[in-house]
Amino acid sequence: MRVLVFGGSGQLGSEIVRRWTDCEIAAPASADVDVEDAAAVASSIAAHAPDVVVNCTAFHNVDVCEREPARAFAVNATAVEGMARAARAAGAAFVTISTDYVFDGETDRPYRETDEPRPLSQYGASKLEGERRVERLQMDAYVVRTCGLYGTRVSSSKGYTFVDRVLAKARAGEPQAIVDDAFASPTYAAHLAAALRGLIETRRYGLYHAADAGPVSWFAFASEALRRAGIDGPLEPTSRAAWKPETPRPRFSALASERLAALGFAMPTWGEGLSDYLRDKLAP
Ligand SMILES: NC(=O)c1ccc[n+]([C@@H]2O[C@H](COP(=O)([O-])OP(=O)(O)OC[C@H]3O[C@@H](n4cnc5c(N)ncnc54)[C@H](OP(=O)(O)O)[C@@H]3O)[C@@H](O)[C@H]2O)c1
Repeated sequence: MRVLVFGGSGQLGSEIVRRWTDCEIAAPASADVDVEDAAAVASSIAAHAPDVVVNCTAFHNVDVCEREPARAFAVNATAVEGMARAARAAGAAFVTISTDYVFDGETDRPYRETDEPRPLSQYGASKLEGERRVERLQMDAYVVRTCGLYGTRVSSSKGYTFVDRVLAKARAGEPQAIVDDAFASPTYAAHLAAALRGLIETRRYGLYHAADAGPVSWFAFASEALRRAGIDGPLEPTSRAAWKPETPRPRFSALASERLAALGFAMPTWGEGLSDYLRDKLAP
């Protein structure tokens, strides 16, 4: 299978490039193909003649998206539609990644694919618009929402992964306070890459949730990361009220990956995510 990955240097994209070893993969750097440049995207797809185009790009700094919504919509919606159209024109299937932030968090059980989105932020709204533009094309496409992604590659736009930062601060003896009243399903990027590899074989196109099974509070997740890494650092629970993020975020945004499970690709748990991440991080 020939696969063209946009965003191949990111947390998820790098796991796909590394792990889909049975595929012939091309992953142009953002300096070579800016996904906002529809002509560059189309010529890249024409040059590689892929069977599948995977979009792992995003503009996902939530606070910057809030201040610069036009930029957020350009990358997360307009560019996604451009990639999808170009993939369709070349006869390729399309995979694009979306987010738990399409939901408002007013729930107490993991979100299903059938739940109604209601984004609280421009980031969430722009990603939802990207989903809808792809769905409107009625093409061979998988729209896959994930949650709290972390990987062994540092996200270029963030410069750190959540787990790494928790471990590094604890090792340095720096005190850290992490919210104990916000719940998610943090997902190891390698697990998502594996699920996507299975999914693209099915040709069962549509909307999917793909997250390591939760829910877990961010404080409990960080505590468990420290315990499993054998680090005894200062870690305090705090509350959303005390944290006061600049941009509203869902209080509860764990995802239930029911459709994937029904196809035989049940996602591992968030605890298995941590174990596998720590093992891979320490691997030579
Ligand atoms: N991170 C999370 O917690 C999280 C949670 C839920 C959903 N998601 C979704 O999961 C997907 C993957 O996220 P990630 O954490 O792997 O992202 P990431 O590590 O930040 O990687 C983003 C990738 O997109 C590329 N990129 C950004 N703008 C581009 C542009 N205009 N043209 C070409 N390439 C561009 C980046 O290239 P450069 O490095 O060269 O800039 C990088 O390769 C995204 O759709 C995101 O919305 C993420």
